[in-house]
Amino acid sequence: MSLNPFHPVPRHVAVIMDGNGRWAAARGLPRAAGHREGAKAVRRIIEAAIDQGVSYLTLFAFSSENWQRPAEEVTDLTFLLKHYLRSELNELHEQGVCLKVIGERERFGPNLAAELETAEARTAGNSRLTLVMALSYGGRADIVGAARRAMEAGVRPEELTEQVFAGFLSTTGIPDPDLLIRTSGEERISNFLLWQLAYSELFFTPVLWPDFSAEHLAAALSEYATRERRFGARPV
Ligand code: FPP
Repeated sequence: MSLNPFHPVPRHVAVIMDGNGRWAAARGLPRAAGHREGAKAVRRIIEAAIDQGVSYLTLFAFSSENWQRPAEEVTDLTFLLKHYLRSELNELHEQGVCLKVIGERERFGPNLAAELETAEARTAGNSRLTLVMALSYGGRADIVGAARRAMEAGVRPEELTEQVFAGFLSTTGIPDPDLLIRTSGEERISNFLLWQLAYSELFFTPVLWPDFSAEHLAAALSEYATRERRFGARPV
């Protein structure tokens, strides 16, 4: 659990980027066009998050369930990711972005997995914004993986605290999200950061992800600043 004293700007914003398909359908375009426009929104939001003073931004770019989509869409999304990485990495590095990837990257094949690793290593020294890309990520798989790693490390049952357990999750070293934003009007967590979102503020907006702008992010952060966070305790 994040125990930071309340700060009006969330230190960590997590986003479920939803609505690319509906954005495309509304224009009579193929879904791939919605994803391409979604990638442009990713670029915008990284910049806006830096401008707003957010330190960690986690984007749900591909869920473990997304593999069940038609092969053509999976190929489009994988291609887009590869393209994004290749075309944006220099810019991200210059902006001071540290890239971290969570999820089962090896499912994208050895080439993309290696490219992601290289990108992480190259940007590891940056500290302006930590961009966490959730790729082939599932919250339940993250928890099961942590349990396995704790057992493999020989952690004894009486030694296992929440803090110890969190150290085995893919997000170890990253503070829990203060704010979760989901676009497109859906109001679900959809197997995102199940453990890490325990005390996050939730913000749902009908805006479709490709339309999500710096102004929409600013509106979400303004709303967040009005929330009273208690972490389960009573107000002082
Ligand atoms: C949800 O839209 C979005 C995704 C499945 C993936 C998010 C991908 C992007 C924003 C583009 C690529 C990202 C990067 C980092 C380059 P949906 O297809 O579920 O939309 P729908 O619910 O309207 O059908």
